[in-house]
Amino acid sequence: MKMDIVLIPGDGIGPDIVREAVKVLDAVMDKSGHTVKYTTCLAGGCAIDETGVPLPPSTLEAAQKSDAVLLGAVGGPKWDTVPGDMRPEKALLGLRGGLGLFCNLRPAILYPQLSAACPLKEEVVAGGLDIMVVRELTGGIYFGERGLSADGQSAYDTMAYSTAEVERIARKAFEIARGRSGRLTSVDKANILETSRLWRKTVECCATAYPDVQLTHLYVDNAAMQLVRAPRQFDVIVTENMFGDILSDEASMITGSIGMLPSASLREDSFGMYEPIHGSAPDIAGKDLANPLATILSAAMMLRHTFKLEEEAKMVETAVSRVLEAGWRTGDIFSEGCSKVGTRQMGTLVAEAVGQE
Ligand code: NAI
Ligand code: MG
Repeated sequence: MKMDIVLIPGDGIGPDIVREAVKVLDAVMDKSGHTVKYTTCLAGGCAIDETGVPLPPSTLEAAQKSDAVLLGAVGGPKWDTVPGDMRPEKALLGLRGGLGLFCNLRPAILYPQLSAACPLKEEVVAGGLDIMVVRELTGGIYFGERGLSADGQSAYDTMAYSTAEVERIARKAFEIARGRSGRLTSVDKANILETSRLWRKTVECCATAYPDVQLTHLYVDNAAMQLVRAPRQFDVIVTENMFGDILSDEASMITGSIGMLPSASLREDSFGMYEPIHGSAPDIAGKDLANPLATILSAAMMLRHTFKLEEEAKMVETAVSRVLEAGWRTGDIFSEGCSKVGTRQMGTLVAEAVGQE
């Protein structure tokens, strides 16, 4: 197979971590005989500096023509004074919206080797955590009409969803739940919000096609509470854009390691955009301190979801586990008795572990 991948390193640690993910992808290519063509594009603050806009049309075009995008992170203090519509983060919304990426997958996995990093009590997470948050990404309040009154004294945002929008994300979530434990929790605020009542009704309708999946509904405030009270009750969670943003951050933090968690943004075909969930960490940019594992694991998700290379995806995930098992740690996940390594060495260790018997 020949893969056509657009790399968007972005700002801060973005270039540091994307470089290491490429190292690992190259190791996979060597082992598997597949080939890859990379095209590197600008987005975020670096794009503002070079072209005046956060998302140059050439980047969106290249992404549209590719099979998949691997993104580092965008933003940083240098662009904090840029007006709202021209901020680096606009590039993310532009890519998600422009590419029609309505389905955001965020696995929150507590690696047994890193259980010390989990902020919850040991008995609450005994047996580990492996939660998949499926977040709707192109609808809801983040894309609704908004406004500020002329006197600056009032403002509004609107949340809207159509049945079609809910159906397509619900179907994705049911499919994913079917491939895992068969448990799906749909999160909404149906006691208050009209959009949530439509959400719940639509998810219920979809459920008839998936009798093998056990569906439950939770209100979002309860879901937030349950995630820290008894997170092991969850397998797959599906929810709308803003609730998903908040719950997936919460779910990721109970695994204790922002530098470990990948994400995928998908649509109906096999195209996808893959990125770590963390930001551009300007405090450690260019210092060989960033943990590249979230980006490396995002590349594994790319192999799985876009290229349907399950074996190769597992190869990368197993390599990461082995490197952790052997005690190698970047600063953010370091604990007593482990060996500290930098960004580059971590990437090299994983690349070397790929495909080892
Ligand atoms: P952040 O995720 O960049 O950093 C939070 C903390 O975690 C920092 O102490 C950082 O050093 C650390 N950290 C993050 N990733 C790490 C890694 N891979 N290895 C080791 N440590 C890591 O979030 P923050 O500080 O709120 O935002 C910084 C910039 O990133 C802002 O401009 C923000 O807008 C942007 N951002 C971009 C995102 C994206 O591109 N998807 C997402 C979130 C924030
Ligand atoms: Mg967020």
